[in-house]
Amino acid sequence: MRTRPLKVALLGCGVVGSEVARIMTTHAADLAARIGAPVELAGVAVRRPSKVREGIDPALVTTDATALVKRGDIDVVVEVIGGIEPARTLITTAFEHGASVVSANKALLAQDGADLHAAAEAHNKDLYYEAAVAGAIPLIRPLRESLAGDKVNRVLGIVNGTTNFILDKMDSTGAGYQEALDEATALGYAEADPTADVEAFDAAAKAAILAGIAFHTRVRLDDVYREGMTEVTAADFASAREMGCTIKLLAICERAEDGGSVTARVHPAMIPLTHPLASVRGAYNAVFVESDASGQLMFYGPGAGGAPTASAVLGDLVAVCRNRLNGATGPGESSYAALPVSGMGAVVTRYHISLDVADKPGVLAQVATVFAEHGVSIDTVRQQGKDGEASLVVVTHRASDAALGGTVEALRKLDTVRGVASIMRVEGE
Ligand SMILES: NC(=O)c1ccc[n+]([C@@H]2O[C@H](COP(=O)([O-])OP(=O)(O)OC[C@H]3O[C@@H](n4cnc5c(N)ncnc54)[C@H](OP(=O)(O)O)[C@@H]3O)[C@@H](O)[C@H]2O)c1
Repeated sequence: MRTRPLKVALLGCGVVGSEVARIMTTHAADLAARIGAPVELAGVAVRRPSKVREGIDPALVTTDATALVKRGDIDVVVEVIGGIEPARTLITTAFEHGASVVSANKALLAQDGADLHAAAEAHNKDLYYEAAVAGAIPLIRPLRESLAGDKVNRVLGIVNGTTNFILDKMDSTGAGYQEALDEATALGYAEADPTADVEAFDAAAKAAILAGIAFHTRVRLDDVYREGMTEVTAADFASAREMGCTIKLLAICERAEDGGSVTARVHPAMIPLTHPLASVRGAYNAVFVESDASGQLMFYGPGAGGAPTASAVLGDLVAVCRNRLNGATGPGESSYAALPVSGMGAVVTRYHISLDVADKPGVLAQVATVFAEHGVSIDTVRQQGKDGEASLVVVTHRASDAALGGTVEALRKLDTVRGVASIMRVEGE
């Protein structure tokens, strides 16, 4: 074993960074044995230097992250600050000054992954980010390496623990969205400003990263269709239950049936209770991968939290350090397939549509005609009437989102349709 240590600069020492530092210390001997050289924490960049940080030598703490990454003797920079800047500049500066990088930053990778990979490649360095998607769950490496000989057709996952906690609460207790959100906030599962989670920005970033890796194609954040889960109601859950389904916020990355394009989307969807993702409870994450040769695979575990996320960071750190000792780099960006990324209109799936209609003869026939005119075939219809008004629940066979959109637009124009109460996609069948 080499005795000269590999030097690690830790940028950020918050929820994740503090756990990275702790495990680097408590597992130092094992890490050294696995890498073939000891790893040394050479500096820790933070915003508030006076904060007491257990187990961290105060002499290592600095507010000058730029100077730390420019030192020239750093082997690996671990970026766990988050956000776009200064993280982006610090990472590119790290490459320029000879370091490889491990990051947990989904927002940055989803937005600027291509540029960051190019910078890593230009300097012959590694950029690893297992922790950026689904916390502790090994996903990036299995997609990049274990499935490198297979053809992935679909990635379907619950990649945000906060929203899964809220939806699970709504499902199991009958609570409304706000009540479930309040509980998630009180228990620390939701942040004071939950927008990134509940409006699915976080899940969309992860979908962009997963789709890019799964399909060897650059998928930008803007390419991902995004719909949050704030409009999901207790009534939607009741409808889902009648169909033998539950509701999950899903990230879905798919290859088109002809293989010529891909789509990436994030939205609430009904899934059958028999689907493995339906049993993912609380704040857990799970990702279902379908590929040609392997068939169906499911990856499950804690998608966030300091220690679980640090586990993924440390796994990357070991891999990057090994590469470094071998004078090699691991797999970089793979975007050779360069498939076109289609918009939501091209997505083909089933739909559950709940309509408020007048309770009189002929309405059902009128509604059915609109579906038929737009080429959307109906699977089941359920009608409940009361006081001259009725609710009509239509479940369709597979149709394109564009055809469904046209159908709904035409339905809204019918005198007998008072409103479209909800539209939800049905997945996982
Ligand atoms: N938390 C999770 O469960 C989780 C899961 C998966 C991925 N991630 C990702 O991991 C990253 C870190 O998340 P986190 O939850 O650990 O965040 P956090 O608790 O807010 O920690 C951020 C750290 O960065 C430091 N920092 C902020 N701005 C800085 C600057 N300009 N220069 C130097 N240091 C700066 C902060 O310093 P102070 O300590 O002085 O404030 C803090 O130590 C993010 O990209 C996040 O998306 C987090």
